[in-house]
Parts: sequence; C-alpha cells; structure tokens
Amino acid sequence: MNNIAVVGTGYVGLVTGTILSDFGHNIICVDNDEKKVSRLKNGEVPIYEPGLDPIVERNAFYGRLSFTTDTAEAVKACDVIFIAVGTPPAEDGSADLKYVEQVARQIARTMDSYKVIVDKSTVPIGTGQKVKGWIAEELAARGLDIPFDVVSNPEFLREGSAVQDFTHPDRVVIGAESEKAMEIMKEVYRVLYLNETPFVETNIETAEMIKYASNAFLAMKITYINEVANLCEKVGANVQHVASAMGRDGRISPKFLHAGPGYGGSCFPKDTLALAEIGRAAGARIELIEQTVKSNENQKKLMAKKIVDTMGGVEGKTLAILGLAFKPNTDDMRESPAITILEELAAAGASLRAYDPEAMEEAAWRLKALGDKLAFVSDEYEALQGSDAVVILTEWNQFRNLDFPRVKAALSSPFFFDLRNIYPRHLVEAEGFTYVGVGV
Ligand code: UDX
Repeated sequence: MNNIAVVGTGYVGLVTGTILSDFGHNIICVDNDEKKVSRLKNGEVPIYEPGLDPIVERNAFYGRLSFTTDTAEAVKACDVIFIAVGTPPAEDGSADLKYVEQVARQIARTMDSYKVIVDKSTVPIGTGQKVKGWIAEELAARGLDIPFDVVSNPEFLREGSAVQDFTHPDRVVIGAESEKAMEIMKEVYRVLYLNETPFVETNIETAEMIKYASNAFLAMKITYINEVANLCEKVGANVQHVASAMGRDGRISPKFLHAGPGYGGSCFPKDTLALAEIGRAAGARIELIEQTVKSNENQKKLMAKKIVDTMGGVEGKTLAILGLAFKPNTDDMRESPAITILEELAAAGASLRAYDPEAMEEAAWRLKALGDKLAFVSDEYEALQGSDAVVILTEWNQFRNLDFPRVKAALSSPFFFDLRNIYPRHLVEAEGFTYVGVGV
C-alpha cells in the first residue's frame, strides 16, 4: 500500500486516483478548482463516466480516497505523485506544458523526502527530462539535494469505458531511469501485475513516444477508413463490408475501422497535432499524421456538404440533430465533429433542433455563436417534430432503435442522414426515407 497523490482531477486524474484507491492505496486527489473539489468531497462526481460514481463513493467511505486543493499537504503525505493536469494545444499545435510545469515546481517547493513523480498526462517527448530539470532547479533554489525520480506512465483509457480500460489495460507502459522507481511503479500497479497484464519497462522518452505513436496511429486508422468510405460511395462499394473483411486479417484488426463523421475528443485531435509538430521541430516530419489532421477536418466539412447537397440546400429548413458528444456515453464535446458540422449547417441557413442525452449543457456554450439557429430539446422525437431531416451524429444506444412510424409522422420531408452507419440502408429505405450514410 502506497500513499499516492494525483494532481489534476480531469478524466484521467480522477479515474486514476479512484481506481488506484480501489486497488487498496491511499489516494489524495488534488485540484486547484475549489468548486470541483468541494463537489467531490460531497460525493458528487463532476464528469459523466459509467461505473465511476460507486467506486468513488466506496473508497471515499473507507477513507482511501480524499480530495484537496492543497498540493503541499498532498506532497508531504505521499511518496508517489501523479501529474494528470491538462496539456491543451498551444497556437502552433504543440502541447502547452504550463500546467505541468506549475505542478512540477510546486512539488519541488514542498517535498522533503524521496518522491517518484509520474507524468500521466500525454506530454511531448522530452517532457520527463524537463520535469526533472524544473524540480532540480527548485530544489537547488532551496539549497536542497533531495533524491527523486521522474517516471512516464502514459494512460490509454477511453472516455465512456474508462473504468473497464483502466482495470483491464492491454499493457502498462512505464518509462523510468532507476530500478527503485520501476519497483515502486510495479507496486502501485500490483493488482494488474498479478493479473498478468503485460508491463513495458522502458526509458522515459520511449514511454512518451509510445503514447503519441499509438494515438496517432488510431486516428490515422479511422481517417483511412473514412477516406475509403468516401471512395466506396463513388464506386458503389460498401465500407462496412470492406472494413469487416479487412478486420479479419489479424495484421489489421477490426477495431477503429468504423467510418463516420471524423474523430473528435480530448486526445486524438490534440495528439495528432502535437506529434506532427514534434516531428517538424525535430526535422523528422510525420507527414502521414499531418495529412491525417487535414483529412479529418475535411471529413467533418464533407458531412455538412453532403447534407446540404442531398437536400438541394438547407436555407430555411429545420434539421433534427441526434447526438452532439464526440462519441456515446460521455458528456464531452471537446473537438466533437458536431461542432464543425452544426456550424457549417447553420452557415448554410439551416435551423437546428438538437438533442443529446448528456452533452447539451456543454454544447450550449460551445455553440453559443449559433444563437437562435440552434435549439435544444428534451428528446429525439421532439427534435424530429416538424423537421425536414434527421441527422444522427453520435451513436447513443437510444438512437439505434427509433420508432419509425413516429419518425415518419414527425418529419416533414423524408431525409435520413445516418453519419454513424447505425442503420442498414434497406431498412430505412423500406420505411420510405432517403437514406444517406458514410460509405454505404
Ligand atoms: C482515445 C484513445 O482510444 C485512448 O487510448 C486515449 O488514451 C485517449 O484517446 P477517447 O478519446 O476517449 O480515447 O475515445 P475513442 O473511443 O478512442 O474515440 C475517439 C474518436 O474516434 C471518437 O470521436 C470516435 O467516434 C471516433 N472513432 C473511433 C471513429 O470515428 N471510428 C472508430 O472506428 C473508432
């Protein structure tokens, strides 16, 4: 059992802290957002993540999981400190490290014994060394020579299945520079280690690279199938069948081959931009990823164009928008393809009636600029009422089984845009709709 601090209670930080407390460690989660911390202290989980709430509740009850705004207190009490703060993209696409630097310096200003400082945030290759430098600098300023280790331990969890992903990872990657730090990290993940989860033990830079190379590869894989889907439409092929047959080749694997309106979320857009920038800066461009970024932007615009073209223009028309989040089971709107698609549709003159089971609050401020062009309604059928078309943007389960007679009665023209390919064309056409999917 270790005393562990997790600084930053976003998706990654909160899930890491919570599950590690469930593994039996004593965890202090730190955040400088007082409101968030007081909500967490009251047992309120500020994010929508299936299965997380009862684990937070259980471990808080047993006293293994606590929350504070006081970094110094947490640093003093803990021998392992995870940095899980945000690394938003800077102007040039590179990851902005100001929050990581702040935390690293804060740790060094208060530490009084050996610590393992773990980079959990996705950070550019070389950040581990920078963290080391910032800590050494602050310790020197205090005239102290306290030993410490910096470790890179990238996280691969997905939003919406964070609990399952964290507790059943395909691998745990640990980049460290000392045997001592490596052993402590294995102790932190002992439960997984005993479950025979593969552990990749490597140096800090390699661990940092693994995260970028993995995420950018997945983003590229999605983008590839999206481009194949666009071509399928032109040549009369069906991308669902293409992807399923491709996926049966063990070298390719069937995952992340689902064509759609483009990838979004807090990781892929940011990490592809960052990797492209790292490559440019290092004089070893990763042009495939530069192209992936462009192509994904294009895919979102193409979706709006497809709707406008199919309907012969959308000026004065009303569209029912089903789903806004970047994927189901999350309230997260970050880089959701819905943002670009709705902006383009509104710019083309459409009025939008949108419904999402979880993401409307966030969508309301992110899409504020659309003004009265965008209305939020309380369910999918209210969105459909009096609309000229239905547009499925996120594949929430509740949109997979629409009541077609009700849909038909509510819509004033028969356009059905299924940008997540969740309905078979023949079924929707049999109901008398004009069906448009992605590459099918
Ligand atoms: C991702 C990575 O999967 C995870 O390992 C990493 O740590 C963080 O980034 P997440 O952003 O939560 O996780 O979502 P994910 O389920 O990977 O989906 C990302 C985006 O790709 C979504 O917009 C999704 O709709 C899209 N996607 C995914 C597709 O369009 N097609 C697919 O086949 C898979």
